[in-house]
Amino acid sequence: MIFKRNASLLTSLKLPCGAEIKNRIAKAAMTERMADKNHLPNKDLCNLYGKWSDSGAGLLISGNIMVDKRYKEASGNIVIEDEIGIEIVSEMTKAGTRSGNHFWAQISHAGRQSTIFSTFKPIAPSAIHLKKLMLFAKPKAMTLEQIQDVKRRFVTTALNCKKAGFTGVQIHAAHGYLLSQFLSPKTNVREDNYGGSIESRSRLLVEILTEIRVEVGSEFPISVKLNSADFQRGGYDEEDAFFVIGKLDKMKIDLLEISGGTYENIVFLTKRSERRSTRKREAYFMEFAEKIRKITTIPLMVTGGFRTLDFCEQVIQKGELEMIGFARPFLLNESFPGCFINGGTTKIEDASFEFPIKKMADMAEAGYFDYQMHRIAKDLELRPHYSPYAAILRMTTNEMIKGWFR
Ligand SMILES: Cc1cc2nc3c(=O)[nH]c(=O)nc-3n(C[C@H](O)[C@H](O)[C@H](O)COP(=O)(O)O)c2cc1C
Repeated sequence: MIFKRNASLLTSLKLPCGAEIKNRIAKAAMTERMADKNHLPNKDLCNLYGKWSDSGAGLLISGNIMVDKRYKEASGNIVIEDEIGIEIVSEMTKAGTRSGNHFWAQISHAGRQSTIFSTFKPIAPSAIHLKKLMLFAKPKAMTLEQIQDVKRRFVTTALNCKKAGFTGVQIHAAHGYLLSQFLSPKTNVREDNYGGSIESRSRLLVEILTEIRVEVGSEFPISVKLNSADFQRGGYDEEDAFFVIGKLDKMKIDLLEISGGTYENIVFLTKRSERRSTRKREAYFMEFAEKIRKITTIPLMVTGGFRTLDFCEQVIQKGELEMIGFARPFLLNESFPGCFINGGTTKIEDASFEFPIKKMADMAEAGYFDYQMHRIAKDLELRPHYSPYAAILRMTTNEMIKGWFR
């Protein structure tokens, strides 16, 4: 395919709040694990976002930024609990917006998916233990006061992100983190107003979004990352997702990003799985997107598996999605997405490693890409043949040192 300058992927997008994104290419959230001991961005992180701003993408979404330093998703997460350090975060947002793109903060709380490197006392909707490689302690069920505290924290973090120069926020309600735990009947067996029916399980998310909108004003982009399903028996399923999307549709949401899975079934990373019906098309979750198109007018973005320019262009041209999210392509080819935009490359090749220990395959994948991200941030060349064993060792050691020894 010859990429034309007037291609659909390069058209701008006006969001319901009035903000405009210069094209349809988004860098989806990727946890960076680069914060310093005060949980603030270091100079590598500023460099990384400066480079990604220059990459040509219309929208950058940060990795998990935590609302509470006690319940991080990774030891090197940025944490924004108050205004302390806001000038340092501003340096990163200045770099991350220098080419006229948007840069949104992904705001999150890990709940029971907070590893033992962050806490031995996680909290969650219910005391249901995530048993995976002994990396997680059994959580305590949250009290109503703790739920109110989490709500207040999401709102405070969103407001401080705005003050720090982010041009929008994304509330992370996917991938099995706290808000996603509330949505799932498998991890939320509460008997109060926040558990039971999907109406009650989605209450916390809806309340947080309502309060954030009041605080950040009507012209500031708010996005939600939501699972199509958790892909677990007895878990949050498509019917639940339809209900939540129906609720969001009545609110002022600017972009709905669709993903899927939790730490118990990391479908959002496991492109090699052949079981998922979504593999009928290049990208994951596209069939789900087709279904929700009928029930919502919120602009849609899907992330996962997009690798060819041809397919991306078709999806936007046909109006199936408003934005396309890419994560690993940014770490597989340093010229991405510029190479798509100038037509120099029309297909991004996936990393070729296979990892034989199934239980740890997702860790190998995460560690491999974490390593590549650190190399880009330090102006080093990518190392496509980096060993997945070394990747696991490096990432786990870093998590431990940052979590326990600094
Ligand atoms: C190294 C790495 C870190 C990630 N961190 C996050 C994160 O912080 N928040 C999030 O919502 N998704 C995260 N993801 C998932 C991606 O946003 C995306 O959903 C997934 O990689 C599939 O898209 P892709 O096929 O374009 O890579 C991460 C993925 C990778 C590879």
